[in-house]
Amino acid sequence: MSGFSPEWLALREPADVRARDPGLLTALAAHLAARDEIEVVDLGCGTGSNIRSTAPVLGPVQAWTLVDYDPVLLEAARAELVAWADEAAENGESLKLKKDGRAISVRFRQADLMQNLETVIGGQPDLVTASALFDLCSTDFIRRTARAVAAEGAAFYTVLTYDGVQTWSPTHPADAEMTAAFNLHQQTDKGFGSAAGPAAPEALALAFRGQGYVVQEAPSPWRIDASEQTLINMLADGFAGAVAEIGRVPPDVVAHWLSTRRTVSVVGHTDTLALPPV
Ligand SMILES: C[S@@+](CC[C@H](N)C(=O)[O-])C[C@H]1O[C@@H](n2cnc3c(N)ncnc32)[C@H](O)[C@@H]1O
Repeated sequence: MSGFSPEWLALREPADVRARDPGLLTALAAHLAARDEIEVVDLGCGTGSNIRSTAPVLGPVQAWTLVDYDPVLLEAARAELVAWADEAAENGESLKLKKDGRAISVRFRQADLMQNLETVIGGQPDLVTASALFDLCSTDFIRRTARAVAAEGAAFYTVLTYDGVQTWSPTHPADAEMTAAFNLHQQTDKGFGSAAGPAAPEALALAFRGQGYVVQEAPSPWRIDASEQTLINMLADGFAGAVAEIGRVPPDVVAHWLSTRRTVSVVGHTDTLALPPV
């Protein structure tokens, strides 16, 4: 339904884990440290990569709501979280997990964020979080998210927002025009209106500062080499496919770029932590 397969999300998860900025994660943990129980909403959760990376630094009792509009990904998230946990028990619609001494309950909610953002954020969570989501969203939706998060007084933490910078190795003469065309594709509508694409990190920072939040940002680039050749190949295929759809680079140039297989790729991302005013 969403165009993001469980297989693709599983393939990228190790690169995501390596790329996240540890400093912002530590700052988030410090901000929430005094709370006995933490309530978290994860927007566009996919198969649950974000909870698996974030929950291990948060407190001993956590209640997560994982939100996505794709029922296939929500089912995959449930199965992957059961496999990830030390203990897992079904509790009606939700899961009760034990992981490294933490008690983590997980609710799964199928909802289209464009229609239901304020409802899914409502209920005064301590934290609203997301991973690899906001470059898909419009600047208006980013502002709307900041307003909705601020209305609940929640902390906000989002990771792996694409920032428009890519390097490929070996280099190719068409790298720059390919990246420019790819970045145009990133701005097409992904269900939230014209996407902010590479402008999303800046839009997030502006939107949360506009709500009086204290915003910290840090780079979180993917660094992928030949040890993850399948991921590089899929990335290169997706990159070239998006460039071809935009139609600015001649098809023979795109084909030549793709035929010269890359062995190293760095894809720029930004992590953003926005804390409410005290
Ligand atoms: C790039 S994937 C990231 C998934 C996951 N957060 C991760 O880091 O692996 C984007 C996710 O956003 C979800 N998504 C996209 N548009 C959505 C919408 N309008 N409402 C709810 N979820 C949406 C997709 O189904 C997908 O799971």
